Amino acid sequence: MSGTRFIRDQRFFEEDNASYVAEVPVEDAPALETSEGKFLGKSVERYDGYHKVSGTALYTIDRQLKHALAARALRSPHPHAKIKKIDSSKAEALEGVMAVLHHGNAPDIPWHRDSKLFDTHLRYAGDEVALVVASTADVATEALNLVHVEYEVLPHETRTMEAMDDRAPELHDEGRLQGGEPATYARGEVEPALESADAVVSRSFTTATCVHNPTEPHNSVVFWDDDRLTVYDSTQGVFAMRNTLAEKLQIPASSIRVICPAMGGGFGCKLELSKHTVMAALAARQLGRPVSVVLDRREMNLAVGNRPNSIQHLRAAGTRDGQLTALVTDSYGMVGAYPSNAWMNWPLVVMYQCPNVSVTHRNVYSNLGPGRAFRAPGFPQGTFALDQVIDELAEALGIDTLELCQRNMATASQASGTPYTSKKLAECYERGAEAIGWSTRRNREPGSGAGPRKRGIGMASQVWGGGGGPPAGVTVMIQRDGSVQVVSGTQDIGTGTFTILQQTVAEALEIPLESISVRVGDTDGAPYGPLSGGSQTAPSMTPAAWSAGLELKQALLQGVAAGAEVPLESLSYADGEVRGTEQNWSLAEAMQVMREQTLVRTGLRAANAEGKIICSFGAQFVEVEVDTETGRIDVLRVVAAHDIGRVLNRRLLENQFEGGIMQGIGMALMEERVVDDVEGKVLSANLLDYRMPVMANTPEIEVIIPENIDTVANNLGVKGVGEPPIIPTAGAIANAVYNATGVRMTELPMTPDRVLMALLGAEEVSR
Ligand code: MOS
Repeated sequence: MSGTRFIRDQRFFEEDNASYVAEVPVEDAPALETSEGKFLGKSVERYDGYHKVSGTALYTIDRQLKHALAARALRSPHPHAKIKKIDSSKAEALEGVMAVLHHGNAPDIPWHRDSKLFDTHLRYAGDEVALVVASTADVATEALNLVHVEYEVLPHETRTMEAMDDRAPELHDEGRLQGGEPATYARGEVEPALESADAVVSRSFTTATCVHNPTEPHNSVVFWDDDRLTVYDSTQGVFAMRNTLAEKLQIPASSIRVICPAMGGGFGCKLELSKHTVMAALAARQLGRPVSVVLDRREMNLAVGNRPNSIQHLRAAGTRDGQLTALVTDSYGMVGAYPSNAWMNWPLVVMYQCPNVSVTHRNVYSNLGPGRAFRAPGFPQGTFALDQVIDELAEALGIDTLELCQRNMATASQASGTPYTSKKLAECYERGAEAIGWSTRRNREPGSGAGPRKRGIGMASQVWGGGGGPPAGVTVMIQRDGSVQVVSGTQDIGTGTFTILQQTVAEALEIPLESISVRVGDTDGAPYGPLSGGSQTAPSMTPAAWSAGLELKQALLQGVAAGAEVPLESLSYADGEVRGTEQNWSLAEAMQVMREQTLVRTGLRAANAEGKIICSFGAQFVEVEVDTETGRIDVLRVVAAHDIGRVLNRRLLENQFEGGIMQGIGMALMEERVVDDVEGKVLSANLLDYRMPVMANTPEIEVIIPENIDTVANNLGVKGVGEPPIIPTAGAIANAVYNATGVRMTELPMTPDRVLMALLGAEEVSR
């Protein structure tokens, strides 16, 4: 197997991290085998639900601190420029302005590759030039216009293919491609397989750049207490942010506290530390006052990441007996002005059993805001292309698509040969097909429906990692009154971390939810929690919480035996009580007889099973209606059948599916960053021009989850559910549109104009 660079992110997608962390229990806590416990598996209410819906939840910017200042970033108006001179005296003279930080007066802090926090080389329109700090955000905004910058404007390129050309500017020391050359992957031999196949299909696809646009913008509130820094931030990783801040500011991680109180979404853009937070920390230190910085919607659309576009040329080959024999892709994705990752080929590498695969991918630098991980990075784009050529190949071979998928189900990772801990994709295919009425589709010619509004059914498959793993810890404390506190350095990004930790501890200690309080989203005094990304939070944190709970149970039994002077064998534990032959002890009574004040155990996430890979799998089936006169696509119904391990909380799980599928529909039908390539500027940097789905676009969604308590994966049998829902949606919709109209949509988003062009047989417009 070649292409080590290509698969460098494999850990996220194929969890086989058996022994890469030193301090990790190899013996896991006893597994919970039953699928429905007293609390786990139940649709209990969200821990933070009341505060979220009533408006009393405190978000980052609600942390109003005395004497706080507000900061705003001055951003480059040019797609490519050098700063020749900067004069901030006029801005500083404005009443209320406290400081203007820029390359001339701020410390030199390295940023991506060969760039700096305050760089004189500006690589996209939106790149940070300076930070203005003032008494209020309005004053800071006014002062932005008073900073005089003399720019040397340089040639720019914002188009993907053109940005690789010799005439395009070089943005970094490694050239026009990130990594300096294409990334490749290969197995088997594709050429002979293509030659001997009974059918070969070949098609090109493009997908638009999408922007995360979470409801809550990026914002930070920072202050220093002596040499200790506290940062309130809307972040997907309090520990990750702390570590990067320590590096950037050259102070010990132990002097930094990061707190993420409540969050209005992230979807990947809040996985990384952004420049504005470091700049605010520098300003707060310099001025000795708290500083808050809130990005506006324009900045959200320019400077904090996106799902990179894609250009994909695919070939697929198969034989008449339904064997997939070759998959080839040649692809391009724009990483923007700084390193990111625009690859989208992993589904093609591992989704289906296929002996001959070849991938060549280029991550292209350009003068636009850099990409960032966005809910299943690369997978929705890759699946959109892959599952359309699978659909097309099936037709060419005279085989039903579903059958082709079923026949080529991979039993082990196609990249490494490693078997999966569990895989219930077959059941997903069967039950999903049944629910959508797939059999009604079988005997229908694509586009054969009567009238201008045509209905069709399509499907696409899903693979993702999301097995989680160590290091991850959860501390559980029983207080003297019997109340229980859970503390962990993970965070709740809106997915329900508070709730699933509460449920898990309730299950382990057999106590009511109300007696358990949960604190996450704070680095101070908390055991490490990983980034809330890669769908790894639930499968990393809940097994650790389960372990902590079981350890506490043991400690209670031993403590009561010693304190009450009764034999350990005479004691048992049930329903939140230590039970003896003569007497029972509630938690409070147990604490009393033990003469304890706080009983503490920290559960650590055990190692993953050696020689196995944890992945989630699924398939989505959708029904659409296409108005062939207007080009409008309506998604009528989505059936999502996914193997995501144990269902911890059905209601939270359905939330994830609804959100992911909605985002998938947005990507499929409307979301697109629009760029003026001549000016090198984003035209859609607001929520009017960057269209996102609303409730009116929501179809009927049916979620089917096969029962799978995968205790080989971890003690609770949990796999992550954050990313799987978005992966197959756009591909399934495109296949449904083909089934309805007989026309392939190869460009995302499938806006009415593109649908009409395709129906008219017009040439596709390359991006
Ligand atoms: Mo996600 S892109 O792992 O937040």
